[in-house]
Amino acid sequence: MPCLALLTTGGTIAGTGAINRYTAAQLGAQDLLAAVPGLGALADLRIEEIFALDSRDLTPAHWLQLAARVRALIDDPAIDGIVITHGTDSLEETAFALHLLLPTHKPVVLTAAMRPSTSLSADGPLNLLQAAQVAVAPESAGRGVLVVANDQIISARFVAKTHTHAPDALSAPGAGPEGRVYGDALRYLRTPSAPRAALFDLRDKLSLPQVDVVLAYAGASDAPLRQALVSKAGGIVLALAGHGSLPHAWRQVLAELRALGVIVVRASRIGSGVMQQCNEDDDALGLIAAEGLNALQARILLMFGLATRTPLPALRTLFSGL
Ligand code: SIN
Repeated sequence: MPCLALLTTGGTIAGTGAINRYTAAQLGAQDLLAAVPGLGALADLRIEEIFALDSRDLTPAHWLQLAARVRALIDDPAIDGIVITHGTDSLEETAFALHLLLPTHKPVVLTAAMRPSTSLSADGPLNLLQAAQVAVAPESAGRGVLVVANDQIISARFVAKTHTHAPDALSAPGAGPEGRVYGDALRYLRTPSAPRAALFDLRDKLSLPQVDVVLAYAGASDAPLRQALVSKAGGIVLALAGHGSLPHAWRQVLAELRALGVIVVRASRIGSGVMQQCNEDDDALGLIAAEGLNALQARILLMFGLATRTPLPALRTLFSGL
């Protein structure tokens, strides 16, 4: 029998109350398991209640704590895979952070629910069972961190929450799922890569440099960027219109930020598609194009790059390599 570590962090999957008026993170791990009778037949389980939070309250310090614990479990030869329950609201951020911080030779699978445990057709129990099915399957290794919800297996590289309340809210815009779960069978749609090492080792860190996201919109002033001149932001991600066109009103303050050594990444507010150096001269402006990352992912990669004192040319290579 394979051995799975089950780490719970809270979220709607552990929520109780009415479907549109409930409290997240109320159930303990044993309550979650009681709703999934088939789980015991799949694997021996080692349970850890690591946080009990609504995911809106998770911080980068929580990512570091979770990643360090999962890394230790991956290094434990008795553990075959890891399942993490999480709230859907910030799941894409935790999943992408773990994707960068963990090696890929053992499956690490996040799951969640859009409906609280007490609602009719609660989606948490089946999602948890399917996450365990994926985590015990040897063919799930080498794919990086995965997210399982609503019969879909989604790469943490691409996952985003794309609906406020539908059960298929977690999806991979522009990329599609990595695979699907049908009953007791898994169908992967892509072949795995060779297992890789963690892209960053931040096990000695308890916090990360501040990186803010600044949204561009019609008539946006440069005030949030001017504020960054006086705050301690080490980096800024611009969530820009279209394929990353810089408002003319922002150019002066961006030059001042760059002169102070603040790293600025040009991302799109759109959520899918690639951001290239096609309409701005990022080299001349000292900016980094987010390439295929959305603004939230770009923020995480920049935080990790700054934490490891990665120079600008190497940061650009990181962005273009993901
Ligand atoms: C949360 O993110 O913790 C609450 C919402 C959810 O899980 O769907």
